[in-house]
Amino acid sequence: MLQAIKLRKSIRNYKDSVVSPQHIQNIKTIINEAKPLFDNIPMEVLLIEDGTKITDTFKGLISKYTKVKAPHYLAFTSEIQEGHLENIGFIGEEIVLKLTGLGIGTCWLGSAIKQDLFKTLFTVREKQSYIILVAFGYPVKPLEQVVTRKRFDKSKLITSTFDPKYEPIIQSLIDAPSSINSQPWKLAINNNKFDLLLENRNILSKKILKDTNHIDMGIGLSHLYNSAIELDYKVDLKKASHKDIGSSLYIISAILNKD
Ligand SMILES: Cc1cc2nc3c(=O)[nH]c(=O)nc-3n(C[C@H](O)[C@H](O)[C@H](O)COP(=O)(O)O)c2cc1C
Repeated sequence: MLQAIKLRKSIRNYKDSVVSPQHIQNIKTIINEAKPLFDNIPMEVLLIEDGTKITDTFKGLISKYTKVKAPHYLAFTSEIQEGHLENIGFIGEEIVLKLTGLGIGTCWLGSAIKQDLFKTLFTVREKQSYIILVAFGYPVKPLEQVVTRKRFDKSKLITSTFDPKYEPIIQSLIDAPSSINSQPWKLAINNNKFDLLLENRNILSKKILKDTNHIDMGIGLSHLYNSAIELDYKVDLKKASHKDIGSSLYIISAILNKD
């Protein structure tokens, strides 16, 4: 996953060709094996092979940001319960990173299609709601290691001191995608315990990204979790009762151990 984290970036230009039958098969396996953060929240991943079902709905949309045209999409649906957005971000990003490993480009799409329209086009399970899309396909330019990304400085993310051995794990979190690159995450590190908090950095993100930022938190946690696992840590994800810090909202803790 560390390699995939370095290769991943949001792809907005795709080849017209569809993904090979072998890769579609691989993707189905990836979806089936992806690990949720909260396995008690019913959710589903829909593989939309015919991307025109989505792109045909783009006609009335004005913003280019919402209209990423791709040959295929994944759609995430879930029951609405506490933690469902973090859950979708976490499981979705595992799928995104594994697709990256196959040389497939991806882009999370937060506002491409509205709930009501989605329900007229696809079957959504009872009690579930449509949450978000991920566009995917072969990128026009093959994926290559991303050397510089537009990201906040690390000091904005972490205020505590930490053991330098955690550097690659923290970098993986920094490299994660987030809605309009808002990077809402904040880390409070105490020895081997990482508390992940959601920080609304401005009024805009507070109002517009209220929900999507919770998806971003799950995505960031997926980067943190998967990089730590690859570096041979055992990772225990636990939600403590109440640990908001100032205006930052506590989400979850990751406790890292090595044998
Ligand atoms: C939850 C979420 C929603 C997003 N929605 C869109 C979108 O609607 N359109 C788009 O072009 N990119 C979208 N993105 C991609 C972000 O703009 C992108 O991740 C961010 O700018 C960082 O760039 P990178 O992914 O290339 O590292 C979204 C990302 C996330 C995580």
